[in-house]
Amino acid sequence: MTKLTVITENTVPGKVDGLCGEHGFSLFLETPEIRILFDTGPAGIATLGNAPKLGVDLSSADAIVLSHGHGDHTGGLLGVLRTIGKPIPVYGHPGIFADRVSKRANGRIVYAGMPYKREALEGLGATFNLSAAFREIAPGVYLTGEVPRRSAFETGDAELYIKRGNDLVRDPLPDDQSMAVKTAEGIALILGCCHAGLVNTIDRCREKLPGQPIHTIIGGTHLGFAPAEQLRETSRVLRDLGIKRLGLSHCTGLPAGAYLAREFGEAVAFCNVGYTLTLP
Ligand SMILES: [Fe+2]
Ligand SMILES: [Fe+2]
Repeated sequence: MTKLTVITENTVPGKVDGLCGEHGFSLFLETPEIRILFDTGPAGIATLGNAPKLGVDLSSADAIVLSHGHGDHTGGLLGVLRTIGKPIPVYGHPGIFADRVSKRANGRIVYAGMPYKREALEGLGATFNLSAAFREIAPGVYLTGEVPRRSAFETGDAELYIKRGNDLVRDPLPDDQSMAVKTAEGIALILGCCHAGLVNTIDRCREKLPGQPIHTIIGGTHLGFAPAEQLRETSRVLRDLGIKRLGLSHCTGLPAGAYLAREFGEAVAFCNVGYTLTLP
């Protein structure tokens, strides 16, 4: 059995019990072999506050995975390491510490990268295990590694930059990766922000795990930032794939979520704070 729990997400649905929504994402994965914290949410109060209310003991985590370096996925890391209180492997891509910013519509530059120095995190027990390769980090749990950009309609974020001296250069987010989990139903693909593009990410997963159908996709699809063509094309690919469960979170947003709910009906779930899923 595999269990997923969304700890931090933008929204708290329905009846709440002191749970907190924050812009970001954090999910807890439990398999018979390993417990993994996938992303840590932003540097706010949600991840540490929500976890115990959701029955998640962060100190039981065996490993942490960072989908990419943006602060809304890595900002919770410092507090999480303090809570765990022991050395723990942290998996990611070598690019997660890039000095990155976001350029707002009004021209304002906002820091968007990892808000901590590597040394500070290592001092709290983080043992970084960084690679751009596809790899199996536990039995049946895989990281896609760096995702080749192949689809013509997934063009990335025009407002995201990396600082190089005094210059800003477009940030292609090479560190963005997803996690694939083998279950009896097929592959469950867990996304952080999916800057690489959902179709590119699906292609990477199918190429590296041939013959294993993707049954479930859950997490931030980034389709909330995508042009209409990308949403339509992605929807077509998901239909061809015969996707059985589409768990929408974080950077999907309401308009894209509503579009996908109309297209995929009961296959769609809105995976807000507290959403849980148990897979055979
Ligand atoms: Fe991001
Ligand atoms: Fe994000």
